[in-house]
Amino acid sequence: MPSCKICPSMLSSDLSVLASECQRMLDSGADYLHLDVMDGHFVPNFTFGHPVVKCLRPKVPRAFLDVHMMVSEPDKWIENMRDAGADQYTFHLEATEDPVSCIRKIRDTGMKVGIAIKPGTSVEDVIPYIDSIDTVLIMTVEPGFGGQKLMFDMMPKVRFSFDLQPLGHVLQIQYLRDRYRHLDIEVDGGVGPSTIQACADAGANMIVSGTAVVSSDDPRGVISLLRQSVDE
Ligand code: DX5
Ligand code: ZN
Repeated sequence: MPSCKICPSMLSSDLSVLASECQRMLDSGADYLHLDVMDGHFVPNFTFGHPVVKCLRPKVPRAFLDVHMMVSEPDKWIENMRDAGADQYTFHLEATEDPVSCIRKIRDTGMKVGIAIKPGTSVEDVIPYIDSIDTVLIMTVEPGFGGQKLMFDMMPKVRFSFDLQPLGHVLQIQYLRDRYRHLDIEVDGGVGPSTIQACADAGANMIVSGTAVVSSDDPRGVISLLRQSVDE
């Protein structure tokens, strides 16, 4: 399995001081920084885009920045994100009709390529692209918000995915891990000390954790706990 990476999601940090929050996470042992870009269209929430990433980059010059693009037209922002200093561009498979073109454009910029899938999307849908990407991001909540727990109850369609999720997603990850041993397999949404073990057992090695790490009084302790679970 590729080495374990612990990636705090900065969405739940104090965004008015994003750079110092990022530095706090790096000082606490974070491997990557996970930046959630939302356009209010692909997901029902709005965050920030490449201008913020561009301001952040010089403040954390050595950090690996993984931008999780929860946007409707992911091919539109590839150049901007590269110019802003992103290291990995992770787009949603559901957001584009031409994933091949998206992958090629990202590769051309020199950034690493990630494909994310929502809970209702089958992992088989990623297989045609798997040899040309670096990371598969398996969403373990519906994308759009950090700190999710029971929000799904409000949306019948989402509840259907949620009912399938506890078992379904572990199986999805295992399926990928069994066949593609060198792929980075990322999990994102509701991951923390109490839920990491199932993800780790299933083969995830790239762990995004927002609320559990960023809102903790002891981010270093939580990061090292998460790391132990994946490494064991
Ligand atoms: C949700 C985002 C996640 C989120 C994770 O759409 O993609 O990265 O910030 O936060 P937690 O760990 O709090 O679920
Ligand atoms: Zn994310």
